[in-house]
Amino acid sequence: AAPLIIAIDGPAAAGKGTLARRLAAHFGLPFLDTGLLYRAVGRRVLDAGGDPGDAAVAEAAARALRAEDLDRTDLRGPQADEAASRVAAIPGVRAALLDFQRGFGTAHGAVLDGRDIGTVIFPQAPAKLFVTASVEARGRRRWLELQAKGVPADLATVTEDVRTRDALDQARAAAPLKPAADAIELDTTALDADAVFAKALELLQAKL
Ligand code: C5P
Repeated sequence: AAPLIIAIDGPAAAGKGTLARRLAAHFGLPFLDTGLLYRAVGRRVLDAGGDPGDAAVAEAAARALRAEDLDRTDLRGPQADEAASRVAAIPGVRAALLDFQRGFGTAHGAVLDGRDIGTVIFPQAPAKLFVTASVEARGRRRWLELQAKGVPADLATVTEDVRTRDALDQARAAAPLKPAADAIELDTTALDADAVFAKALELLQAKL
């Protein structure tokens, strides 16, 4: 049988990462947070004093990406969020990261979370979830994460940043954020992490 690929897509702070990690542990599969790839590219561009919207600079950074870049501790936060979203809109950046993502899942299967796993990276994946939640719930979750890390933040500003990033991710021409035709939608607005995991297992049952 083909190795199992589980594709988890959806907007920012919908609970994809937590769910994807738990599914990976449950099924004994490797896990890849593909957002980290775009974050690391954005960070490389910022470090070099470049503009994340500059296609030539961002593509060169994507081609130069190394595994160690994903271990950096400064890949989260408003500046990294914005830089990631901007480099992610550049087709050459997405092309440069494609083989790594496909290669990651090909040998042993994998759970991948991102925006285009079910539509572009693994369109043949047998199991696809599109994880959503209201923008208010997502803003609140992101804000609570920042609080927990001791980062001072304002709820309204964090919610607005989430809204802006979703709009960018949905509106771009290259691999826009949208559910694959065969993705199962899971709205996590009213669910905690345990309930999301239980619901996801129930929804995936029929597919696996
Ligand atoms: O998932 P995360 O919030 O870490 O992703 C950061 C940014 O990277 C997103 O806003 C999106 O623009 C981009 N991204 C993407 N495709 C993916 C994963 C992330 O375009 N598969």
